[in-house]
Amino acid sequence: MSKKYVSLVPDKYMDGWDNVYKKQMEGKLDELPQQYVHYALQEYYLFTQGKDHEGKKALEFGTGDGRYACFLAQLGFEVDAVDILPSAIEITEKRAEALGVTDKMNILLTDMDTFELQPESYDVISAIQCLQYLYEGALPKLLELIEAVKPGGFLLYGGNVKPHFKTDPPLRFITTTELKTALKGWELYSIAKEVRLVRPKDRRGYIWTVSNC
Ligand SMILES: C[S@@+](CC[C@H](N)C(=O)[O-])C[C@H]1O[C@@H](n2cnc3c(N)ncnc32)[C@H](O)[C@@H]1O
Repeated sequence: MSKKYVSLVPDKYMDGWDNVYKKQMEGKLDELPQQYVHYALQEYYLFTQGKDHEGKKALEFGTGDGRYACFLAQLGFEVDAVDILPSAIEITEKRAEALGVTDKMNILLTDMDTFELQPESYDVISAIQCLQYLYEGALPKLLELIEAVKPGGFLLYGGNVKPHFKTDPPLRFITTTELKTALKGWELYSIAKEVRLVRPKDRRGYIWTVSNC
């Protein structure tokens, strides 16, 4: 059977995200801005409070419903937001409009696997809960992202670690050791892990970092 999406991710996951984003489109747009942002973005905000981000460049990978991309735009960044799902792009556009940051956003329907990254081209790169969906490409892409951060810039990363339920094909989790090795020489403003009981019998490990080049 042919795949519905271009992504490496099984259609059942893509359908799941697609439904979430489409559901948000049906909800009240004026409720979108209040939604939670990931710890890494909250911590980045606290660490850099008082800094002027106006006109600086950010990349938000696997942007999903766009809340992190819009958050960065609200801080003043010019943001490239990338996702492979049309519904993610659509909800990100709506959110940007609701928050009045459309002119700061470059919202791109594209594959993060083939997205061209130039060395030292972004002040902030954020990749939250997305690189593992590149499977064997996850770690090489993390290394490319690290190269693409300007000296003095930040990487905001979030991903899964074990425990996690089995998937077919298996997700490629970037381990704590791999993450720390990849960020050798960087200042790790924060690096943290937690295990959450997402639902009964479904314990999942999460790792995130805010790191400064
Ligand atoms: C678990 S969601 C995370 C979304 C968001 N980063 C967050 O943390 O809320 C994973 C996202 O990665 C996107 N994605 C998966 N494979 C992708 C690819 N190859 N290129 C771009 N986006 C991709 C999916 O469409 C989905 O929006």
